[in-house]
Amino acid sequence: MLSRRSVSPRRLGSPGPSAAQLGSLVDAVLRAPDHGRMLPWRLVDFGDATRARLADLFEDEKRRRTPDATTQDIERARAHATQTPTMLAFVVRPEADAVVPVPEQWLAAGAALGQLLMAAHAIGFGAIVLSGDRVQDQTLREALGIAPAEVLAGFVSIGTAISSPPPPPPVDRSRVLSDWKP
Ligand SMILES: Cc1cc2nc3c(=O)[nH]c(=O)nc-3n(C[C@H](O)[C@H](O)[C@H](O)COP(=O)(O)O)c2cc1C
Repeated sequence: MLSRRSVSPRRLGSPGPSAAQLGSLVDAVLRAPDHGRMLPWRLVDFGDATRARLADLFEDEKRRRTPDATTQDIERARAHATQTPTMLAFVVRPEADAVVPVPEQWLAAGAALGQLLMAAHAIGFGAIVLSGDRVQDQTLREALGIAPAEVLAGFVSIGTAISSPPPPPPVDRSRVLSDWKP
């Protein structure tokens, strides 16, 4: 767990998880804590046959958002859709009228997302979640089948790390852990 780091898509190559490994990853994510077992999240898998279409959608969104986008910008947007063996969308679907408060549903979704990245690392793969401005784009959301009440939280890229990302900066534990002093 201490060695997990996000691995950028440009550092992720083949192979990615097999279908059986992806299934195991999902099973691992299903063991994340989830108040009321509401599953306030879902994953969308973009199989190989869909990637060119996904790249078109990413390109269209980039052109809408940045009309003066350079060729390099467009290539980068398309590459995000195509360059890693596995590409998933992580979608959060909180239920407003549930007994479980919405912030707790968000915590459960976040726990699931963290568990996905950690589980991928545990079986030898690199992974990263990236949102970017495109997750807000209504046309892209609709093309991906994201319902109005759902949040497209980001895209999870998974593959084999072909180079190491820089080490994470050290964080002093005291920033997150304190003693209660009554
Ligand atoms: C939901 C979510 C979306 C993110 N989107 C972006 C993003 O669009 N761009 C980015 O540079 N980092 C993004 N990050 C952060 C990276 O995925 C990564 O966590 C961060 O660079 C820290 O690296 P580490 O996980 O190795 O500590 C996002 C993280 C989360 C949880």
